[in-house]
Amino acid sequence: MTPSPSPPVADELPCTMAHRGLSAHAPENTLSAVRAAHETGARWIELDVQLLGDGTPVIWHDGDVKRCSNGRGRLRDLSLASAKTLDVGSWFEAKFTGERMATLDEMLELVNELGLGLNLELKVNRGRDARALVEAVLPRVMEAVPAKRLILSSFDAVALGVMRTRQPDPERLRLGILYQRPPRNWADDAARLEAYSLHVDWRRLSARTAQAMAASPYSLLCYTVNDPRVFERLRAWGVASAISDDPGRLLRQSRIAG
Ligand code: G3P
Ligand code: MG
Repeated sequence: MTPSPSPPVADELPCTMAHRGLSAHAPENTLSAVRAAHETGARWIELDVQLLGDGTPVIWHDGDVKRCSNGRGRLRDLSLASAKTLDVGSWFEAKFTGERMATLDEMLELVNELGLGLNLELKVNRGRDARALVEAVLPRVMEAVPAKRLILSSFDAVALGVMRTRQPDPERLRLGILYQRPPRNWADDAARLEAYSLHVDWRRLSARTAQAMAASPYSLLCYTVNDPRVFERLRAWGVASAISDDPGRLLRQSRIAG
């Protein structure tokens, strides 16, 4: 008798993840946002990682610091010492004044203390070096976080390819392919990379593609889902997990059991 296939990996993911931490209620990608996500019951979080100019990996989304700090300038021009002088909380709300940019190491420590699952997006902003990012991030993260609590995701094909070369075993390194609009050959990408999951912008996802992805060996995740009706529709299409700025609200206001 042929052994039955292993259960779909989607079963291990919760149906929501907190986008950039609990970014609806705390400054995105900060330690406070991750603590807040945990306090509201999130089991997994999505965060962005990139490098400062001195090579330190930090949890940050944009290529510059204007939107989410009290400073100006490009991330690639900052040292850790100068990045740590920035206030990255008060732009969001006065009560977060004094929040500091989190290094990857600080964030990994918190993620482990709270026992959270981590979907870490390697963010390769314009002009940045995907390989350098992988070399700095991959060994640290793989050493700190057990494989079952970790997905490394990226829009960047080079980053994804280098990660798979560094760790060829798909059980030990779960890769998530990010798409704004899925290409026709998404299944080829996923097979080549031995991906774990496909992470798609729900606004560009048709029912047909969603259902094909959900029936594939890969888990389907969607970002950024904040409307409960959209969440219900995506779940009906087979989406395993919705990445949301406020997962608690999404669950409360929808008919989906968390
Ligand atoms: O990982 C999903 C989502 O975070 C991708 O877009 O711009 O929010 O990093 P962005
Ligand atoms: Mg992201």
